[in-house]
Amino acid sequence: MKDEQTSEALTPASLQRHLRSAVFGHRIFYYPTIGSTNDRALDLATAGEPEGALVLAEDQTGGRGRRQRTWESRASLGIYVSLVLRPGVPAIQAPLFTFTAAVAVADALRETCHLPGGIKWPNDVVVGRRKVAGILGETRGSEPRIREMVIGIGVNVNHSVCADRAPILASILEGFERRYARVLAGKPADLLREWEALSALPRGRRVAVEGPHGRCEGTVAGVDDEGALLLDTPGGGTTRVPFGEIVEAL
Ligand code: BTN
Repeated sequence: MKDEQTSEALTPASLQRHLRSAVFGHRIFYYPTIGSTNDRALDLATAGEPEGALVLAEDQTGGRGRRQRTWESRASLGIYVSLVLRPGVPAIQAPLFTFTAAVAVADALRETCHLPGGIKWPNDVVVGRRKVAGILGETRGSEPRIREMVIGIGVNVNHSVCADRAPILASILEGFERRYARVLAGKPADLLREWEALSALPRGRRVAVEGPHGRCEGTVAGVDDEGALLLDTPGGGTTRVPFGEIVEAL
């Protein structure tokens, strides 16, 4: 067990020592302090940075979460990164990539820290009831195909459980890259199977969801090929929730 003082700093050099991915994370833009890594990565993507470019910060003063929330980002207590993607697929498939990131994060926490991470739809990584990581996927522009996308990943590392951040981030990048290639090749089935296996609220659980049309309740019936949540509703039908979040396990 290491404490904060003895843990290895998360810098481009320490990351590169552990990196096993082919492309993701090889071009690194590092900031000791920044507003939001997602904002910087969106600017870089718009200016033409290639797929796999990574913005890495020690500290964010304006970290952003989903649904206009803020993301607390204290120095040396977490991993704050944003990755540039250029998938070129229809925009409707964008949620699949945030999903891919969540599966990669949960898997990396298992591999590097033996933490039993699960996923709460759509892409919260949880250990028990505690959220340990969140994903913020963003695109700019309104083209029918995603020309550029940024995936922001925030992981809260508990130093008593897992001290060094560089091996965790290297594992996330490798796992993300590998799964992303399969999804882009039109083979999301493996990813969706993994998501199901990692789901903290598996099929059959009754949940309340805040979706595009407000709150609804039902029983988890899985996710479809685009990452939408399928809910069996009390009336007997199945509702498809394309985006939103599970707000309560009933
Ligand atoms: C969530 O609400 O669960 C998503 C949180 C995403 C936080 C990360 S930290 C790195 C990147 N930069 C941001 O401003 N947000 C994301």
